[in-house]
Amino acid sequence: MPSSPLLRFFTGRRGRQAVDTITPERTFADVILPPATQRTLEQALAQVRNHALIFERWGLGERHATGLGLAFNFAGPPGTGKTICAEAIAHALGKQLLVVNYSVVESMWAGETAKNVAAVFRTAIEDDAVLFFDEADAIAARRTAGARQAMEREANTVVNVLLRELEAFNGVVVFATNLAANFDPAFERRIRTHVLFEMPGVAERERIWQVQLHPLHTPLSADVDFAALAERYPASGGDIKNAVLKAAAAAAAEPGVDVGKRIHQRHFVQGIEDVMAAKSVMRQSIFADEDAAVAAGPNVAVPDARTALALQAVEARSQHAALLGIALGAAGLLAGLAGLVVAALR
Ligand SMILES: Nc1ncnc2c1ncn2[C@@H]1O[C@H](COP(=O)(O)OP(=O)(O)OP(=O)(O)O)[C@@H](O)[C@H]1O
Ligand SMILES: [Mg+2]
Repeated sequence: MPSSPLLRFFTGRRGRQAVDTITPERTFADVILPPATQRTLEQALAQVRNHALIFERWGLGERHATGLGLAFNFAGPPGTGKTICAEAIAHALGKQLLVVNYSVVESMWAGETAKNVAAVFRTAIEDDAVLFFDEADAIAARRTAGARQAMEREANTVVNVLLRELEAFNGVVVFATNLAANFDPAFERRIRTHVLFEMPGVAERERIWQVQLHPLHTPLSADVDFAALAERYPASGGDIKNAVLKAAAAAAAEPGVDVGKRIHQRHFVQGIEDVMAAKSVMRQSIFADEDAAVAAGPNVAVPDARTALALQAVEARSQHAALLGIALGAAGLLAGLAGLVVAALR
């Protein structure tokens, strides 16, 4: 558990947690990446290892208080292995991983986000953890010059605080984003390496299908053909994982004794078909507005759906705060009037 009382408070809530400390179990052996992604990640890992050597074993971290941190950005579509790789980095360093679900922090604590970002860094220092900002798209966003709206002002403050904290932090920070673009230039300068997580190719997909199963205990029928599945479905690692779980559930639900049950090719096919169909429904609903805007013309700006939602939440909250302020002001005025009346009557 995080040691700061503030963080302990907001991790204690039900639902998706804003901050979570995990002891990493997964390693780079669990992740299959396209060659280009693998190469950049290896370079990042070499930097992390050298960082640990120089600043911990060689003691330079004790001599130099700031500006020694390593920040990476893992950018790529959902389910391409960004989270596993952040976990694997922490594992390689023998440290805990402090996962910050940024979108949750922001929606839960509108108006307080900057303070909480600072608290997260303090916790990472106290726990000597690798810091992982998941779903960090909104943080990375460009600061707006001359921001007037409350929501824009808040976003600017958060980026400023984040830059200050990053400067002071000597550990390893990983940001995960789905959108590679739109980085604030000052933020961009603090990021040592961008690792682009590409969708897996056919060869990687075949191996991902295999690593999702237990090599000894998962009962497979002789007709299972991962090469065919890899060839036919351009799925992400996350999709494959979900398909495998669906296939296993379907195979286990078939009649008969357990020892006779096997996962067949048809189970995997059905699993991945379901996953791909669900994804295309999601994509249609998320991008329906965007398509409409594209049809309307090239000058219509469409914000990222989640960012827009988060911004709406901030705006709604500032409106509530304004209404509350007016109500309190009115109550104060009435109390004042009542006081005057009482004084006049005396
Ligand atoms: N490259 C991969 N190799 C092996 N398994 C993978 C890979 N990518 C994803 N998976 C499987 O999919 C699951 C989800 O992946 P992960 O959480 O790392 O994706 P992500 O890139 O962080 O996605 P998101 O952007 O949605 O957070 C993993 O737990 C793993 O089982
Ligand atoms: Mg993730």
